Amino acid sequence: MKDKYKIIEHEYDVVVVGAGGAGLRATFGMAEKGLKTACISKVFPTRSHTVAAQGGISAALGNNGEDDWRWHMYDTVKGSDWLGDQDAIEYMCREAIPAVLELEHYGVPFSRNEDGKIYQRAFGGMTTHFGEGTAQRTCAAADVTGHAILHTLYQQSLKHEAEFFIEYIVIDLIMEEGACRGVLAWCLDDGSMHVFKAHTVIIATGGYGRCFFSCTSAHTVTGDGSAMVLRAGLPLQDMEFIQFHPTGIYGAGCLISEGVRGEGGYLTNSKGERFMEEYAPHAKDLASRDVVSRAITMEVNAGRGIGEHKDHAYLHVEHLDPEIINERLPGISELARIFAGIDVTKEPIPVIPTVHYNMGGIPTNYKAEVVTLKDGNPDTVVSGLMAIGEAACVSVHGANRLGSNSLLDLVVFGRAAAIRCAELIKPGTPHKPLQEGAYDKALARFDRLRFAEGSLKTADIRLDMQKAMQKHAAVFRTQDMLTQGEQKIAEIRASFADVQISDHSLIWNTDLVETLELENLLDLSMVTMSAASNRTESRGGHARDDFPDRDDENWLKHSVLWIEDDKVKIDYRPVHMYTLTDEVDVIPPKKRVY
Ligand code: FUM
Repeated sequence: MKDKYKIIEHEYDVVVVGAGGAGLRATFGMAEKGLKTACISKVFPTRSHTVAAQGGISAALGNNGEDDWRWHMYDTVKGSDWLGDQDAIEYMCREAIPAVLELEHYGVPFSRNEDGKIYQRAFGGMTTHFGEGTAQRTCAAADVTGHAILHTLYQQSLKHEAEFFIEYIVIDLIMEEGACRGVLAWCLDDGSMHVFKAHTVIIATGGYGRCFFSCTSAHTVTGDGSAMVLRAGLPLQDMEFIQFHPTGIYGAGCLISEGVRGEGGYLTNSKGERFMEEYAPHAKDLASRDVVSRAITMEVNAGRGIGEHKDHAYLHVEHLDPEIINERLPGISELARIFAGIDVTKEPIPVIPTVHYNMGGIPTNYKAEVVTLKDGNPDTVVSGLMAIGEAACVSVHGANRLGSNSLLDLVVFGRAAAIRCAELIKPGTPHKPLQEGAYDKALARFDRLRFAEGSLKTADIRLDMQKAMQKHAAVFRTQDMLTQGEQKIAEIRASFADVQISDHSLIWNTDLVETLELENLLDLSMVTMSAASNRTESRGGHARDDFPDRDDENWLKHSVLWIEDDKVKIDYRPVHMYTLTDEVDVIPPKKRVY
């Protein structure tokens, strides 16, 4: 096989796979510390999906009212429905403050208060005094915060002379004796194949929203790094927890930021009722996302949905001052005009819960090191491998992520990965030669798909998968629906053996790219469905009609999933119910009050 493909070899101290917010924060952090760093990305960095993040990044700066990182930690643990690891949450909420101030100094053009400080808005689940008041904690650059951060991080990476390999598709990790030694990648521009040797590989490939039919994610969000981890024989964690964002534009799925409700927007049903007052009397429209998504679904199920099919809700901002809309929500105004054909200053926006975020992913500790279960140790570090951002499950979001904690997770753990690599790697340390045949399997898989001569089109298999996931891993789940979903996904995954590729070339072969991505999505769909079927309780984003209560006695634990011989194997890791310092106490599980 090696004779068929000319392989170009590279050596780096660190290779980062993915150039979204987490990947770029890690990349320039490494380069800044003198490590020879390559960042490999399948899209141009400023087109990574972080660019679509709207509402903001949380940090208890206290610019728009009193705040404390301990309140932020409390909200995050409660929002996670107690499945979050409290050491990692403490780290994230404390480090949020220097991490955001650093972003400001790097040049992120945040919106400003009159006094010149960063403007902060209210977001769901963010409170003061441990649940008493409403916090304004979400630092915003109008409603295009991801765009502002991503461009700044890319500029910083260029300034620190990190090397970029853009429009390269990483095929697989190169693993030797349980340690990661590098990656195999394909250059779309000239069709060449590359081996990147690295002392540490950092996976920052984002989530896998495109398993679903309707999602806020870009078409490129296909969980490539997570699937590589499964193929390397390592587990993923908490894959049953899928976040539905309550306000995707009806019919298009594009995100309408929670920042809209933070600025005073509200939801209504077909009777014009502000129904969130019923479901969350205290937090109302600013309840956490799992709560608001379920409320909309229940209104629709009760026949109070809007439109011809009575299947969505309205989000109102037309009562707000047009100047505020213009200044703070210009992006959503444009999206609503383009995708719903409406003027938000005059009409409500039709919205529906839409898949938005994967709480699960590659298990890591708070230093970004990938961990696995080995010889009874649930925190065994996998040498040479790190994961950050949505691809990772640190786990700071547990069963449900609070809005604006994602951009935070990206920069805090991107930065943590750079700090840890600087501790572990001496710049310029020589590489051992790879073992004979180290990447033969990966190359053979690539070649098999390139010349696949089956009868099924990639797009048809993908549509079957997306429809099955949308229907069977929905906002509300039952054993019956999940068991049927497991069977369907197993059949659809098996049908991939009959895939057909019509383009066999190596240059910009999008047929092959989509097929490689589909194989990744199919594995991720399979573990997601099995994890959801296995967890017989309701917690955070996982709502079971047949098991409506949270069951801490049996389920206060992380699910850990492998694929072995085309079957899903499940085990568990304990939730970290301890903190890093004694500046804060463990937050014991209690019933959630909305
Ligand atoms: O609603 C939003 O602006 C999304 C923010 C987030 O997912 O963190």
